[in-house]
Amino acid sequence: MNLLKRFEDAPNGPNGSGHDGGRGGLNSRLNGAGQNTPVNGAPPSGSIGAPGRYGGPPEGGALAARTALAGGSALANSRDASFYDLKRKVQNALITELDPKLDLSATAQVRRTIEEHFNRILEQQGITLSRQDRNRLFEAIAAEILGFGPIEPLLSDDNVTEIMVNGPKMVYVEQHGRIYRTDVRFRDDEHVMRVIDRIVSPLGRRVDEASPYVDARLPDGSRVNAVIPPISLIGPVITIRKFSKTPLTPDDLVRFGSLTNQMVEFLDACVRVRLNIIVSGGTGSGKTTLLNVLSSFIPNDERIITIEDAAELQLRQEHVIPLESRPANIEGKGRISIRDLVANALRMRPDRIVVGECRGGEALDMLQAMNTGHEGSMTTVHSNSPRDTLSRLETLVLMAGMDLPLRAIREQIASAVHLIVHQERMKDGSRKITNITEVLRMEGDIISMQDLFVFEQQGIENGRVTGRLRPTGIRPSFVDRFELANIHLPPSVFGYGDANWRG
Ligand SMILES: Nc1ncnc2c1ncn2[C@@H]1O[C@H](COP(=O)(O)OP(=O)(O)O)[C@@H](O)[C@H]1O
Ligand SMILES: [Mg+2]
Repeated sequence: MNLLKRFEDAPNGPNGSGHDGGRGGLNSRLNGAGQNTPVNGAPPSGSIGAPGRYGGPPEGGALAARTALAGGSALANSRDASFYDLKRKVQNALITELDPKLDLSATAQVRRTIEEHFNRILEQQGITLSRQDRNRLFEAIAAEILGFGPIEPLLSDDNVTEIMVNGPKMVYVEQHGRIYRTDVRFRDDEHVMRVIDRIVSPLGRRVDEASPYVDARLPDGSRVNAVIPPISLIGPVITIRKFSKTPLTPDDLVRFGSLTNQMVEFLDACVRVRLNIIVSGGTGSGKTTLLNVLSSFIPNDERIITIEDAAELQLRQEHVIPLESRPANIEGKGRISIRDLVANALRMRPDRIVVGECRGGEALDMLQAMNTGHEGSMTTVHSNSPRDTLSRLETLVLMAGMDLPLRAIREQIASAVHLIVHQERMKDGSRKITNITEVLRMEGDIISMQDLFVFEQQGIENGRVTGRLRPTGIRPSFVDRFELANIHLPPSVFGYGDANWRG
């Protein structure tokens, strides 16, 4: 691994040839080196969802201080050319001093080494800085060497769930379901490109004019997509969906108002009696999160095979076999699709197959699995409503290229899928399960279905969506299954004996 190549700050400098494979633990590294406040120890007040968390005046937290410096400070703002000039000057001096054979995976040690050189260079060049500016400059340089440059503080902030880089000067984050613009800046397109290269090259992937977009993953599991010019017209674009270290629990979702305890109780029973369930919703509506929650209801003595593009599910059961698909390599070879993995999973004696997302022909294999003795399987589908979920499934099955008549496909769907759990991201950033819908049967040419639970929106108060999550009063046709499994749900789960119930 060549340190020089790795972070040369020259406009056309090659880079990304080495990667320490772990930016986890960066927080502790940041904390241990003369920082005033640890990133995650920053006071939460005024930071949650506050626009300008990464912009505007600093709020006392180290993060704010590092990324958006106060007006009137010697270095002014990170978008200032003077900051980049200084950073580049010190950084270049530092690279020439550092041993190119330095093992970058020993991050704590490398950090100390960098700090020693950094201090000496400032002294030699007669650069005096306030403590705050000095820390910030050091962090920026350390982030270039050890991490992912200007977005490093965003990556280590647990409150940030997504990072969106729209070219060098516009960096947005999602916090608590809302999108905010930050004050984080890259110097130019090249600078963004270097960070992209550093993310993708350790995975043996490459992004260039010939293949201008790429999917990748950070060592911590966060998902990354990058699109570069000429496809992107605003410079290189990076979208990072951060991997949450502690997955949300059913209790969390109830607390957030995404569903009620009764709905949890009902879904728990549905999973235990092995219903085939499709979780549907738009992008970022919380499908994967909900699939993870549903999967947590699978009894511990079952053999579970999970299949995903990038492993996001975090199952606690003992007997879990996670499989991950693989994109083609640079030569366009070696692709293993979700579909290949579903087919293979059937030969692995699964009790349950959980597929992270159906986006293509694997939907057919999944339906067949559900129909042939692998009941209790689950997946997610991108859609706008429960009805739309069914038509999406049809489209996905057609993508398998089997030339099946539409009616046959519908019959497959009607007999395979028991339940659709549909979720939406509301205008206020909250997620709601808007429908738990039972799929019934073919009636004429269409599949009939009935809502068991719905979210009734009442309005918006103080910017929050208000409404009621309620049972419709309809008893599902599969209640017998509960009884057979000795699961006795109180009638109140379905809305009986509830004063508010109006079927
Ligand atoms: N019920 C919920 N309430 C609040 N935030 C949620 C909820 N479900 C998921 N999230 C958050 O929303 C983001 C997207 O969730 P994810 O499950 O990956 O969505 P999808 O798979 O639909 O794209 C994640 O940051 C996740 O933590
Ligand atoms: Mg998902």
